[in-house]
Amino acid sequence: MIVRVLTLFPEMFKNTLGTSILQRAREKALLDIECINIRDYTDNKHKKVDDYPYGGGAGMVMTPQPIFDSYKAVINSLGSAINPKTIYMSPKGKPFNQQAAEALAKEDCLIFICGHYEGIDQRAIDYLVTDEISIGDYVLTGGEIPAMVVIDAVARLIPGVLSQEESYQEESFYSGLLEYPHYTRPRDFRGMEVPEVLTSGDHKKIDNWRRRKSLEITFKKRPDLLKNTKLTAKEVKIIQELKDSL
Ligand code: ADE
Repeated sequence: MIVRVLTLFPEMFKNTLGTSILQRAREKALLDIECINIRDYTDNKHKKVDDYPYGGGAGMVMTPQPIFDSYKAVINSLGSAINPKTIYMSPKGKPFNQQAAEALAKEDCLIFICGHYEGIDQRAIDYLVTDEISIGDYVLTGGEIPAMVVIDAVARLIPGVLSQEESYQEESFYSGLLEYPHYTRPRDFRGMEVPEVLTSGDHKKIDNWRRRKSLEITFKKRPDLLKNTKLTAKEVKIIQELKDSL
């Protein structure tokens, strides 16, 4: 997958995209990520990239010219065979979730536009952007951290990025439920013991325990998720038992 990020702060991405699983994916050429500094494209002799909002009000707005020109440079460098999705990170966008990550992971190329200050001139959104995405109902100082969140969630779904052991198949949201708890050595840590079933070697029992724990945790912490999850008759019975025990 090709990822291009238009930002005023490319240095913010260095560690996140250059460490651990994302760095390994880049080395394996599964991910080709580049950050482009919007400021490099400004026509303003003082390198200004923002201005006061028309109509007044607090804060500065990023001007359209360097955004349009840096975007054009990216499109030209990609060539005509590539048909990217252009994503603007904003609290006004569609809420991001695992389903949205799965859809984006099927794309060949994503271009992120990160706003800062009060955001970007609306004409850049109207003319360039295909998807406006929010990572939650709160306001951050810019779109950089949200873009990193989306890149991370999407990149790990690209085939080959995660090893077998890291595979996401059983994780939270994959099955529509929150994940069961994990334990590792030692078996007894300062008197706190690992649940016995996990050391029994009985894989059927372990699977049943994990599914039950997933159901319990989801019921307790995010009951809303149960509405969208296909449950077996046995699982419906477990949920009923949990409800009855309240
Ligand atoms: N920019 C600022 N806040 C944001 C949010 N919650 N989601 C996406 N982009 C943002």
